[in-house]
Amino acid sequence: MMNNSERNWWHDAVFYQIYPRSFFDSDNNGNGDINGITAKLDYIKDLGVDAIWICPYFVSPKADNGYDVTDYRDIDPDFGTLDDWKRMCEEIHKRGMRLFMDLVVNHTSDEHPWFIDAASDRNSRYHDYYIFREAKHDGSEPSNWMSVFGGSAWQYNEKTDSYYFHLFAVKQPDLNWENPKVTDEVEDIIAYWADMGVDGFRLDAFNNIDKDQSFPDVETAEGEKYGYAGEYYVSRPGVDRHIHELYTRQLGPKGLVTVAETSYCSPEKALEYAAPEREEFDMLYLFDLLNFDQEGYDKFSPLPFRPSNLKKVLDEWISTLHGKTYMALFLGNHDQCRPLSRFGDTGRYRNESAKTLANAMYFTEGIPYIYQGEELGLLNTDFASIDEYRDVEVFNYWYDQVSIKGEDEQKVLKLLRERSRDTSRSPIPWNDEEYGGFSKHEPWIRLGSQYKTVNVEAQEKDPDSVLNFYRELLKVRHEYVQILKGDLIWIDLDSDEHISYVRKNDDGILISLNNFTKEDVTVKIPEDISGLKVLLSNYHRSDIEDETIVLRPWECLCLGKKR
Ligand code: GLC
Repeated sequence: MMNNSERNWWHDAVFYQIYPRSFFDSDNNGNGDINGITAKLDYIKDLGVDAIWICPYFVSPKADNGYDVTDYRDIDPDFGTLDDWKRMCEEIHKRGMRLFMDLVVNHTSDEHPWFIDAASDRNSRYHDYYIFREAKHDGSEPSNWMSVFGGSAWQYNEKTDSYYFHLFAVKQPDLNWENPKVTDEVEDIIAYWADMGVDGFRLDAFNNIDKDQSFPDVETAEGEKYGYAGEYYVSRPGVDRHIHELYTRQLGPKGLVTVAETSYCSPEKALEYAAPEREEFDMLYLFDLLNFDQEGYDKFSPLPFRPSNLKKVLDEWISTLHGKTYMALFLGNHDQCRPLSRFGDTGRYRNESAKTLANAMYFTEGIPYIYQGEELGLLNTDFASIDEYRDVEVFNYWYDQVSIKGEDEQKVLKLLRERSRDTSRSPIPWNDEEYGGFSKHEPWIRLGSQYKTVNVEAQEKDPDSVLNFYRELLKVRHEYVQILKGDLIWIDLDSDEHISYVRKNDDGILISLNNFTKEDVTVKIPEDISGLKVLLSNYHRSDIEDETIVLRPWECLCLGKKR
């Protein structure tokens, strides 16, 4: 059994998230793969990364790009073989990094042998692995719950003359965690990968595993048939029970660390989930960091970005968790558009703002998760037509808006270009060759047309590139990581012009100043500035002369002093 300080290695870590299908294609079939990741490990290490979370690469029909698994113990042939995986794992460890895998056990694929059996006969031994319910008297769905991807969360199954429950896509039937055999199966999967050498898990949709078994009808918005039923499937008590059981039986004894995807979690609940003595989750990946510039839970109803809203979310979470645990800090992921398109300047100050976003986020309190390509300042892919998209969420949204509601196609396309998941799922541009050097074959999804100028090779050569700024930033972060456990004092919390703060404790002080506008902005540092060194600057500033600083458009500065 690992002791607590060994187990807490992640408190000082920086994570990098890989979307494997779009990272690097080693065998030129248009799909990124495991050997492609192995080939690029030095790139990741040089960035200053300590742990890598890779999105799913298990056998899957890929209805939701791998978040629909048919075999939890083997690698999908598009991604490689188990031997490739073992070599990758070894090479990651050789470089002193850790490996996290995505554990997707709220649901399986409908092509998983368990589900095929379960759906073929009510008497199947696997029938209770899933959630089947009778139709209502009028033959309609057992309840009016809406699926996360739109439409009903129930699908009729002819062979059993009943409906099965799917919180996500139709091809992702939910496992029935009321059945203890499901927990046993998940425990076996964890044990299998622990023996193979993984260091931890990102737990997909894990706070959704417990559903109110009475499946009551919910209110619906005017004109809608289905309604959001979160109160009946988000963070219910079964989640604590199941994760604690897995912790005691596998995760704890084996020193495996977890980061749980926790959609819509209250601060009080988060404190319970992440309290070390409760032995549940280690880190929380909270959705509040993604929702503050949209209406409610609807990513396709964007609101203008206001820096003060981001600060308030950070402030609430950081002050709640401070001294107890650390949350994941991130600007984007594979379920979101590119942060630079969302929060930054996509024109003249593109590079400056990409750096400013990182400088503003990653010196607050928490564990950075950098999503592939963010370190290059990639923008949303400029898809022109619906045919260029690949994501089930996009197709469901398009169907609902255009086919059912008759919305204007151009309006929907614009929203998809701004907010859809595919905008951040395009291949990484490694150089300016065809397909950005990602593959010699046409990729499964188009690259952003920016790759001729924005690519890894070009940025490695340019000392002022976003990539080289990220490398410097992560060095500073590692060097000052003890100070980043200290207090966080906001400078002008309510300002929408800048995001600035002081971090300090007995180890020293670190100050992050970030102009979020295209104009000059004046900031006054509420500290003695003597001895402060400029650690990072996107305008080549080498010193500061006064507490009052005029930050130029999208300028960022990181200042520090150790005691
Ligand atoms: C998580 C994943 C997302 C996936 C969903 C269903 O939210 O991040 O990509 O579609 O779970 O597995």
